[in-house]
Formats: sequence, structure tokens, C-alpha cells
Amino acid sequence: MCLKRSFRSEVWGGLSQLITLEAASSKGHNWTKVNEREAEMSLLQSARAVRENAYAPYSGFKVGAALRTQSGTVYTGVNVENAAYPEGTCAEAGAIAAMVAAGETRISEICVIADCPDPVPPCGGCRQKLAEFSHGDVVVTLATTAGAQQITTVADLLPGAFTPRHMDR
Ligand code: THU
Repeated sequence: MCLKRSFRSEVWGGLSQLITLEAASSKGHNWTKVNEREAEMSLLQSARAVRENAYAPYSGFKVGAALRTQSGTVYTGVNVENAAYPEGTCAEAGAIAAMVAAGETRISEICVIADCPDPVPPCGGCRQKLAEFSHGDVVVTLATTAGAQQITTVADLLPGAFTPRHMDR
């Protein structure tokens, strides 16, 4: 419980609280805001913790990702770099691979964290990967290790996404 409390005070600044409450109320679910906040905190905690295991000897830029599926299970991933640079993989891709390997394919919430000046934006490829397993309204929390947060959605991250529908003839 102590760990939870100190983490909360470290990352839960007034601004991010405002953003989350605004997100909750814009969905018309004011009464769920406390639960949403709790859920988000544990996902953020998971992303922050797993980030420590990132393998990033070339960029020195460790990224952690945590996603929750519709079953409530949390899957995590980190970036895994390689001496052959293009072979490296992103944290989001790692979390998605873990989810699919466990037999799940529906994301309900995502959090990504890195040590950067602004909340880390997923790369273009990861936006497409997240869209493959998410509805557009799935909430994505982008975070910095210093405590800044940006709350967005999969649709806002990838407007005009290529989907299976585009292969219809
Ligand atoms: N990276 C991620 O893990 N996720 C992203 O969405 C952005 C970039 C990683 C890839 C690489 O290991 C490092 O960050 C620097 O680009």
C-alpha cells in the first residue's frame, strides 16, 4: 500500500487529474471517475515497472507499455533493440505480442511511458498495431517518468487508419 501511495503522489499531478476527470465526464460517466482513475494508476504502474527491463543499449531510450484487455488482464512489453538496428522492436509491439500469445485480441486501455520531455508518442507503426486490436475510443495514456501525462485515444492517434474494411471490393 505504501508503494501505491508514493507512486500516486509522484505521478498524479493536478493537471493530469483534471485531464482524466474531463475525459471521464466527456464520456458521460462521472460516477465512474474514481474507478477509472484506480484502473489507470495500476496500468501506469505496470508500464513504469516493466520499463526497467527494456533492452535499449543503442538508443538508451527505455520504453514500457502496459495494456488491459476486455478480460481485465494486463499485458506488458518493452522495447528490445538489436545490433542490427532495424530488428529492434517497440514496447507496444511487445505488449501486443504477449496479449496475442495468451489468446486475447481486444484491448480496452493502453499506457506507454518513457523518460522524455513530453509524454511519449507511439511511433507510426505502433499506432497501426494498436488500432488492429482496439476500437477507436480506447483510451491511451502517454506518460513521462517525471509524471507528465497526455490522455488520448487510438482514433486520435491514427486518423484515417487502414482497416480490413479497406480491402473490401
Ligand atoms: N520506441 C518504442 O518502444 N515505442 C515507440 O512507440 C517509440 C519508440 C523505442 C524504439 C527504440 O528502441 C527506442 O524507442 C528509440 O526509438
